[in-house]
Amino acid sequence: MSPAQRPIEGMTTPQPRRTAKPSANTKVARAAHPDPARPVRIGVVGLGYWGPNLARNFASIDGCELTWLCDASEQARAKLAGAFPGVRATGEVEELLADPELDAVVLATPVPTHAELAERVLRAGKHCFVEKPLATTVADARRAVHAAGETGRILMVGQLLEYHPAVTRLKELVDEGELGSLYYIYGNRVNLGKLRSEENALWSLGAHDVSVVLHLIGEEPEECSAHGESYVRGGVQDVVFCYLRFPSGRVAHLHLSWLDPHKERRITVVGSKRMATFDDMQIEGKLTVYDKGFDEDTSSWGEYIARAGESFSPRISNAEPLRLECEHFVECIRNGQTPRSDGHSGLRVVRVLEALQRSLDG
Ligand SMILES: NC(=O)c1ccc[n+]([C@@H]2O[C@H](COP(=O)([O-])OP(=O)(O)OC[C@H]3O[C@@H](n4cnc5c(N)ncnc54)[C@H](O)[C@@H]3O)[C@@H](O)[C@H]2O)c1
Repeated sequence: MSPAQRPIEGMTTPQPRRTAKPSANTKVARAAHPDPARPVRIGVVGLGYWGPNLARNFASIDGCELTWLCDASEQARAKLAGAFPGVRATGEVEELLADPELDAVVLATPVPTHAELAERVLRAGKHCFVEKPLATTVADARRAVHAAGETGRILMVGQLLEYHPAVTRLKELVDEGELGSLYYIYGNRVNLGKLRSEENALWSLGAHDVSVVLHLIGEEPEECSAHGESYVRGGVQDVVFCYLRFPSGRVAHLHLSWLDPHKERRITVVGSKRMATFDDMQIEGKLTVYDKGFDEDTSSWGEYIARAGESFSPRISNAEPLRLECEHFVECIRNGQTPRSDGHSGLRVVRVLEALQRSLDG
């Protein structure tokens, strides 16, 4: 069986859109934040490139207090010293976990550390926000999801694009049938970006696109294949091309690279009635809907006429997606709500990434 035909681990038959969540072993009911007058106290672990953005947001959300900063590297801690007065800093995650006043831990550490740290955070009784992707294997992702179920704590994965106002609007257009029946999606996420050693372009960049594709299509793929090459660092793919085929016949293609002369952050959705592009590089008009497609020629049997009508860009809020994501986490803690990108959603993304990696390793 070719890697492309291999079923995704845990999926033997095509699955319809999932609404019910796979249950954890033992579920503990999730309670809302005990005292509405008390701020939700948050600690951020991992202060490298991305963690400071999370710290900045959590420090400035009403009803939320940043109380801990943690990084194993003294240099990383020193860089932030002074930026958050009164916030305690440490190199040990255990210090955060032992603080009875701390409600939640935000993990912005390298991907291979995510699942193990998330499980420790949850089992210490804290809510956990973990950067994408949730884990590097389906087995690890499942363990984290089970830990959330067993402890009744919130597990949210930082699948940032699901909080992007343009993606929210695009999802509405798809669900309202504005594009007609959805045919296919392709994504371009390329630039001369951060060269990573612990994760390849698939895991670093692809987690974003896979989460958006699953969100828009509402199914899990039955076929995943990928090709890629490692040009700069041996064994770490810089460029990856992915193909996903869904039970409904829809397909998605992703071009992921941190070795490219262009900077592109674009997702194109093609439907039977209209097409749409989400282009995050645009300042204005991040979302454009094109009245383009083929109409049957009623005057001649079996002929089609290309329709190239007008295009328009719906008004999109310019709220910062990261801000919306962080606010959503705090709101979920306050109200005992399930996050939009919860552990199950993170697990679905990891399932696809793992299948694509298997194909890549082929
Ligand atoms: N949502 C987004 O758009 C986005 C963008 C960039 C990165 N990320 C994610 O953020 C995470 C971090 O990426 P980065 O680029 O900031 O990485 P980075 O390597 O720059 O920083 C990671 C930091 O974590 C620290 N660290 C590692 N293990 C630790 C541990 N056990 N305890 C305490 N500190 C530890 C390291 O010392 C380092 O400072 C990754 O999961 C990445 O996928 C998300």
